[in-house]
Amino acid sequence: MNHSTTLPKKVKIVEVGPRDGLQNEKQFVENQIKIHLINQLSAAGFANIEAAAFVSPKWVPQMAGSDVVMQGIERKPNTIYSVLVPNMQGLEKALAAKADEIVIFGAASEAFSQKNINCSIEESIARFIPVVNAAKEAGVRTRASVSCALGCPYEGDIDPAKVANVVQRMADLGCDEIDIADTIGVGTPGKVKAVFERVSQIFPIARLSGHFHDTYGQSLANIYAALEVGVSTFHSSVAGLGGCPYAKGATGNVATEDVLYLLRGLGIETNVDFEAVARIGGQISKLINRPNGSRAGRAYLAKLGE
Ligand code: HMG
Ligand code: MG
Repeated sequence: MNHSTTLPKKVKIVEVGPRDGLQNEKQFVENQIKIHLINQLSAAGFANIEAAAFVSPKWVPQMAGSDVVMQGIERKPNTIYSVLVPNMQGLEKALAAKADEIVIFGAASEAFSQKNINCSIEESIARFIPVVNAAKEAGVRTRASVSCALGCPYEGDIDPAKVANVVQRMADLGCDEIDIADTIGVGTPGKVKAVFERVSQIFPIARLSGHFHDTYGQSLANIYAALEVGVSTFHSSVAGLGGCPYAKGATGNVATEDVLYLLRGLGIETNVDFEAVARIGGQISKLINRPNGSRAGRAYLAKLGE
């Protein structure tokens, strides 16, 4: 039963745990563990999994071995396996790995752009032009992520107009989907609505997604606010894995189990198996020796006696 006609009836969840989640682990997570995690997630029903990142291993050592991971996974038909790509070098690796989607990542904040990809916003857009063109030529989908869209660890508050500028540039590049990312989890529902209302004047809401980290505990409320303005794609991470290497104190993405529980309660279809994801969340947390960051996942596993 759908409680409100104003909310989308279906939502696509992009599971980002294997990339955004694991990228922040200090101890290297073996490729076999990553491969098994991705296979379990595709079996649980996700239509889109952010599986790897072809970035400089000097910058993010945890993502070294992304080629081995992409080669080792069982490809489920109709599942989109996405990879992050910061430049042409990354794109070549992504194409060799037969990624279904590449993700370029820019920022709404100059300072964060410098810290994360070592260049200005302007330089990053110039760098993305050949990347997107080559991806298109190869028939690979392109998604663009706009970091710090709701606040920056260095610049503080970010004006929605700045976000809109970057979204416009990403739209001009011809990206298929654009993520509004709250990299450090500082956003609140009013700001979320304001940003989505602004950027949906530039790019269709059906191709915008909400990427929320849970640092200040606002991410579920933020998702609800985004649903109310028509957003129907959200990113989340099993067991709330993650953090951001270039944003001190930032916690992981909103936990997938919590999002699934929220959406199921609202009668919104996701085609993802909550119980299976809760078990996967319990397992990966134990395997990498980290507390399970999902409240819903912990509650479900406690009921099972696990
Ligand atoms: P740089 O140091 O300015 O670049 O880094 P460079 O071209 O001088 O390269 C330095 C070295 O890296 C060279 O190696 C290159 O070959 C190598 P050396 O000659 O010294 O041996 N290199 C690469 N190796 C493998 N794959 C590549 C690659 N490119 C260069 N693609 C660069 C610039 C962009 C490469 C670097 O800053 C970088 O890789 N940054 C990635 C940072 C990152 O992955 N951050 C986390 C992901 S973003 C995120 O999590 C946010 C998101 O979740 C949304 C949100 O929440 O906001 C998406
Ligand atoms: Mg993120």
